[in-house]
Order: sequence, then C-alpha cells, then structure tokens
Amino acid sequence: MKVLVTGGAGYIGSHACKILHSEGFTPVVLDNLSTGDEKAVQWGPLYAGDIRDEKLLKKIFSEERISAVIHFAAHINVGESMRDPLKYYDNNVTGSLNLIHQMMSHQVDSLIFSSSCTLYGNSTESPITENCRPAPINPYGETKQIIENLIIDLKKTYPLKSVILRYFNAAGAGLDGDLGETRTAAFHLVPLAIRAALDPEYQLQVFGGDYATPDGTCIRDYVHVEDVARAHVLALKILLQKPQNTPYVELCNLGSEKGYSVLEIIREVEKITQKPVKYKMAQRREGDPTRLIAEASKAKKLLGWQPQYSDLQTIIRTAYQWHLRSQLN
Ligand code: WQD
Repeated sequence: MKVLVTGGAGYIGSHACKILHSEGFTPVVLDNLSTGDEKAVQWGPLYAGDIRDEKLLKKIFSEERISAVIHFAAHINVGESMRDPLKYYDNNVTGSLNLIHQMMSHQVDSLIFSSSCTLYGNSTESPITENCRPAPINPYGETKQIIENLIIDLKKTYPLKSVILRYFNAAGAGLDGDLGETRTAAFHLVPLAIRAALDPEYQLQVFGGDYATPDGTCIRDYVHVEDVARAHVLALKILLQKPQNTPYVELCNLGSEKGYSVLEIIREVEKITQKPVKYKMAQRREGDPTRLIAEASKAKKLLGWQPQYSDLQTIIRTAYQWHLRSQLN
C-alpha cells in the first residue's frame, strides 16, 4: 500500500518512512529538500518538489496509487516564523490547502497531519490536554491551527478520515544511527547544546533566564523522534480500519509528559558528552511559551502509543551519537 509522505526527507518524516517500510507500506516521498536530506529517502520514490506545486501533486496522485497521506512538510522554526510570517503562511497554509485539494479530487480520504504543541501558546494548564484551548503566540503555531481547523471543518462536508498529531519537542536520533536531525539542527536546542559542547568555536545562547520557572529558563517536553514517528504509523492503521465514507477526525498530543528546562538540558548534555557546554544568557526569544508539557493519555488509549525511547538520557545520547557520525561524513 502506497502512502504519500510529504516532508519524508526530513527529520521526523524519514523516521516515519523507515517504520512504514518495516510494516509493509511503501512511502512515496514529496519533499522540496529545503531542510530535508535526499540521502534519508531510502524506502520508496522521491519526488523532489513543493507541496504548493499543483501540477506535481496531480502527477503523483495520478501515477502512484496513493491510499493515504502523512503530511509533515512545513517550516517549523518558532523564531524564524516571528521574523518572516509570510514564509510560514505561504508554505504551511497554501501548501496544505493544495495538498488537501488534490487528495479530495483523487478520492484519497485518509490524512495524518503533523501539528504542534506550539499552538497551545502560553497555556496556564500543565500538563496540557487536547481540550486545552489553542492560543498560538507565534505565526508557526497560527499556521498549524488554521490547518487543524480546515481538517475539522472539512469533516462536515467530506468523508475525510484524519488524525492530527500535536508533537511536543521531538529530539534525539535513530537508534540504528542511520537517521537524525540535519538542517533543522541549526536551530533546535538539543543539537545546538551538543554543538556547544563539542565545537570550540560555538557558544549556545540561552534565550531568557527570567521566566516563571524554577531556574528561570523555558521548560519543554522532549519526546524521542522514533516514538513520534511510530505514532504516525499507529494512527495510519487506525484510519485504514475505519469504514470508507465515514468522516473521522481525532487529535492527540505526543509528548513524554516530562518537562525539562533549557539549563537541565545543558546539564544532561554535559553529563553525556563529559564536556562543558559553552553558553551565555541572552534575551528572550519572541514567541517562546514559558512551559509546554504534554498530557498524552489520549494517544496511548486511541493509538496504543507507548513512548519507548523518550527518557532524557536516550534522547541526548542518540542525538550525541548522530552528531559525532555526521561530523565524520
Ligand atoms: C526549545 C527551548 C528556546 C535554541 C520546537 C519546534 C516546533 C515544535 C516544538 C514540532 C526554547 C530554547 C533554543 C537556542 C535556546 N515541534 N533555545 N537557545 O521552539 O520549543 O519548538 O518544538 O512541531 O516545531 O521548533 O524548540 O529547540 O527551538 O527551543 O535557549 O539556541 O530552547 O527558547 O525555550 P521549540 P527549540
């Protein structure tokens, strides 16, 4: 069975393709390689192109017998979205609209959508459940909420079957050491903290030390990329069991349910690398919520999801091993 995986050359997408393949599916990847790595596409065809390219999407849907879509392709940098909102609305919203249009005109009714905890904004809830009212505080989160609303509204008029997955902070690298963060490593905390331990030239900036948290730095729920990827395949299987022509939309948080501050991540990196992380306290980064910790019981109940690698040590260890390997190549 062929599954269109947009963003399948990316960090989470490539891990999902590997699991899809191991479960007997054929991932058909569409990726514009703006942050993805074509070497990560190893389990099916790669269409190098953009989700906004209507002609290309028509070609894929008509030439490949696509049974379902897992939609990862998006810009995901909170900080960048504050500086360049148009880039985020154009790519994330227009691209998703185009994709969903093509799904409908080719009678493809199953969609797993990669959403984000960032749309919870500065929620006062902790841990955060799916009932928590979204209140994004950055354009990246706004774009995710728009597409979620589109999917929920579509359900009323189209027999769409969809699971929306709101990731918390995906981190770490493949346990086989074959996949990991590539260009998104340029801005996420975990790879940057590892770089600040290993690269004599690089000093990490800690964005804000005056948040209302025990040590003053932001708290995030880190969840291993393999656990996040597996949730997509579990969700796909749920959708494929649902009867045709019956609308179905559910959304789930994906998180470890444990929160760590920026400074706690730094300490863990120092423990695992046995090297000091060079850092300095800097201004807050606009658009950063203070604390984001998941309540993830719904994913466990609905998908049978059970995070296996999301302890902080495994996350940092696998990210460190990936960093060492990518330095060698
Ligand atoms: C984590 C914390 C920064 C870099 C990410 C993805 C987003 C979504 C959620 C899936 C923040 C701080 C960072 C640095 C720092 N995932 N930080 N210095 O912004 O929480 O969001 O996970 O959709 O797509 O972007 O992740 O790793 O950028 O930041 O102090 O150099 O580390 O302020 O508090 P973020 P991040």
